[in-house]
Amino acid sequence: MFIRLALILILLIAQACRRPIDFGPDNPGGLATVSATGESAFSLPAANIDPRWIVKFARGNRSFKTPWSVQAGAEQPGLGPLFNHTSCAGCHPRDGRGQPPKNPGDLDHGMLIQLGDSGKNHPLYGDTLQTRAIQGHNPEPSFRIRYEEIKGEYADHTPYSLRKPIVEFNVQSETIPAFSARTAPALIGLGLLESISESEILIRSQRVKDVNPAIGGRMNHVRNGDGDEIPGRFGWKASVARIEDQIARAAFRDMGVSSRLLPASLDSATAGNASEPEMKDDVLANITFYIRSIGVPARRDPWNPDVQRGEEVFLRLGCANCHAETFVIGRTSLDHLTYQVIHPYTDLLLHEMGPGLADHRSDGEATGSEWRTAPLWGIGLVQTVNGHEFFLHDGRARGFEEAILWHGGQAEASRNGFLSLAARDRALLLQFLRSL
Ligand code: HEC
Ligand code: HEC
Repeated sequence: MFIRLALILILLIAQACRRPIDFGPDNPGGLATVSATGESAFSLPAANIDPRWIVKFARGNRSFKTPWSVQAGAEQPGLGPLFNHTSCAGCHPRDGRGQPPKNPGDLDHGMLIQLGDSGKNHPLYGDTLQTRAIQGHNPEPSFRIRYEEIKGEYADHTPYSLRKPIVEFNVQSETIPAFSARTAPALIGLGLLESISESEILIRSQRVKDVNPAIGGRMNHVRNGDGDEIPGRFGWKASVARIEDQIARAAFRDMGVSSRLLPASLDSATAGNASEPEMKDDVLANITFYIRSIGVPARRDPWNPDVQRGEEVFLRLGCANCHAETFVIGRTSLDHLTYQVIHPYTDLLLHEMGPGLADHRSDGEATGSEWRTAPLWGIGLVQTVNGHEFFLHDGRARGFEEAILWHGGQAEASRNGFLSLAARDRALLLQFLRSL
């Protein structure tokens, strides 16, 4: 009798421990939250990572930062012939957010131009423009961005100004009819986002639609190697399903480095003609582990009454309809991601965002005006980590206010709500965003 009772008790405790616990707004990444608030806030391993894995994390980190090179004896040989940057960190500095070129000729930026449309590549330049090349090869056309200021005012007549980007190429514009300019996002908590189950995403979305059908929201889908459709989650249009695929793509199209997933034979003009993958399997595995395991920075001061009032404004304006506050993660292949309650402020779904943000280029199932809700966790630290606050897919917004004012389409009501707020409430909302 006693033994049976003890067994039942042990089982109950085990079950309770497996139930995901919400550690509250201070811990957006659950137990994977890291407490750093300085320049390295986007670069640390999940706080709950098993110490045995730290070496693998460090190896992935090293490959992420080390430039690829044309030298045969270099640590990472295989760069080019065509490329946009020499390392992952070149576009994602400190695992953070890249920015658009500062002036024509600036090569050290974190932006790339995707090409083609409706699943078809550009006939000359493929699916991505590569603006740099190793010696003896010709780079593809270069681009520059000019901005037009658009003036407006809030309901209380406070003026604002938005800058609309106009991308210009050094070839005739008709030769590049469809393109999408995108900056590199910060890479925090991606293993957690990868681990949210498809049903969690859909159930939450249905709950929102039941109350507010205008918000919409749908998954982008990607076919995996077996021809099955799986939900896309990564990239500004959620057109990539798995972190590993995104890394292989980045290596190939941004650095001309082939891998097991994308062999050079697919496009030798871009990646050369090595018969073996230039990015070895263990390197791909280490970088994938690294990206999956970067923690999420803790919030600063979430209990401050003004921050909490700002959160009320956020909820009142319907921002959380898309920027979903909470997801629960079940069992995953990595212990530090398993059974976490997270606060990513994204629903990972595509939303119609209106003509102002449209790039008029489809990407998987996403149309030219649909974008994936950008995760807002960590966004208050972009200034500290990367020294700028250029938000939205092409970095056009100079701060939170402009990012919100560009929202349209399914987010039009939220934007209009923001426009009619009193100055004090606008400031509270921005204070909340800075605390994320
Ligand atoms: C030329 C600049 C550039 C380089 C180099 C680059 N990236 Fe990126 N990265 C981007 C851009 C731009 C996006 C967004 C792409 C999109 O919207 O499709 C992105 C997206 C990602 C994402 C998805 C993030 C998310 O939130 O959806 C991951 C992961 C990633 N990159 C990892 C890497 C790794 C690892 C490397 C090195 C192997 C790398 N990147 C190299 C520019 C770059
Ligand atoms: C209908 C869905 C939806 C609603 C409602 C919505 N957003 Fe967004 N939000 C998005 C999408 C999609 C993006 C990415 C757009 C892009 O990059 O072109 C985004 C981007 C952002 C960004 C920039 C993020 C980044 O990484 O660059 C901020 C900040 C933001 N939203 C804040 C808000 C706030 C505050 C509200 C409420 C006033 C709000 N959003 C309402 C869908 C929504």
